[in-house]
Amino acid sequence: MKETAMTRFLDAGDAARLVRHVGVGQAIVELAGHLQQDLLRWDAFDKSARLASHSREGVIELMPVTDGVQYSFKYVNGHPRNGLAGLPTVMAFGVLAEVSTGFPLLLADMTLATALRTAAASALAARLLARPGATTMALIGNGAQAEFQSLAFHGMLGVRTIHAYDIDPDATAKLMRNLAGVPGLTIVRMDSVREAVQGADIVTTVTADKTHATILLPDMIRPGMHLNAVGGDCPGKTELHPDILRRARITVEYAAQTRIEGEIQQLPADTPVTELWQLVSRQARGRESADDVTVFDSVGFALEDYSALRWLHAKTHALHIGRYVELVANAPDPRDLFGWAMAGEGGEAGKAAETAAEKGGDTGAAALLGTAHALAA
Ligand SMILES: NC(=O)c1ccc[n+]([C@@H]2O[C@H](COP(=O)([O-])OP(=O)(O)OC[C@H]3O[C@@H](n4cnc5c(N)ncnc54)[C@H](O)[C@@H]3O)[C@@H](O)[C@H]2O)c1
Repeated sequence: MKETAMTRFLDAGDAARLVRHVGVGQAIVELAGHLQQDLLRWDAFDKSARLASHSREGVIELMPVTDGVQYSFKYVNGHPRNGLAGLPTVMAFGVLAEVSTGFPLLLADMTLATALRTAAASALAARLLARPGATTMALIGNGAQAEFQSLAFHGMLGVRTIHAYDIDPDATAKLMRNLAGVPGLTIVRMDSVREAVQGADIVTTVTADKTHATILLPDMIRPGMHLNAVGGDCPGKTELHPDILRRARITVEYAAQTRIEGEIQQLPADTPVTELWQLVSRQARGRESADDVTVFDSVGFALEDYSALRWLHAKTHALHIGRYVELVANAPDPRDLFGWAMAGEGGEAGKAAETAAEKGGDTGAAALLGTAHALAA
């Protein structure tokens, strides 16, 4: 039988199994490492602001990036009122493909990976921006992203106390329940944002509301604080009062995108900002003095998803989690798509090849088969 090119497929259950196997804290550390490597070769990537389709209820976005060897994109939505319909605010899936043939190597749920990579990027930025020795973080917004942010700052910065606040007390109860057993981490429920921010070295805002919210007000901010602003990530959707931004040193992921979507959409378009890759490569310093107020204006950038997909692709093979699927039609004679489809062989060939590819185990069979097929075609 002719070898059939197969795509590795990781559904939501597989992705969760993979992350449970690795451990959330370890996954975040590994993702931060992958992101750091990719940020260090920033110039190798063909970058663009994501393509956003806005509606009254939310946004659907496509996020592509490539380094000329591999290409990735993520589909992600943001619908703050989805909870009322029993759906997550943020849902995502992504594809990693090889540039030489265009063959899709991996199709994966990225809802969980988005939470992990967002937390990894936040902690990576905070390591370069927060004052050394930060131990207390205020966490405003205790929804789906909250545990990942907490564990990232606990594991990567040594945060030991989280001041948790959410307008929905059930969200805070869920956070406290989920992280009750984490050694060395204490979650303290707070009754207001103001109370939560008091005594915090770091403030993470990760709320969801499609409005120019003012979760943080200027008089809540103390010299030296680091603000990790995660929830404002769309035009018309921000969390910080603009006066906070006017006195802060601001780091962003990719300025061309953040000026449209981030907190800094509230400031003039020529407001100076530093990009995260500049901090990582030591070409810029985010904090000059202990009294600086620093802001990581996070919106989520395609490179973070590329790093996450690269990580997932390696893990799915190493841990034998996930399976192969015939995602794209792959006729024996690639030019006879019609004949192949009408003969009704697609499913059978796919199943046989799946078995063969599974037997290939962790050898990166999809990539090899994809390339072999393209060369033979
Ligand atoms: N920057 C990024 O890369 C990135 C990645 C993922 C998600 N996000 C954004 O992060 C936000 C949170 O995502 P999620 O998946 O946790 O959503 P979620 O809906 O699960 O949780 C949001 C929480 O915010 C709370 N909240 C809303 N308004 C609040 C307020 N004024 N004060 C305190 N709490 C408030 C809600 O009650 C809810 O518990 C969203 O806006 C999402 O778009 C950003």
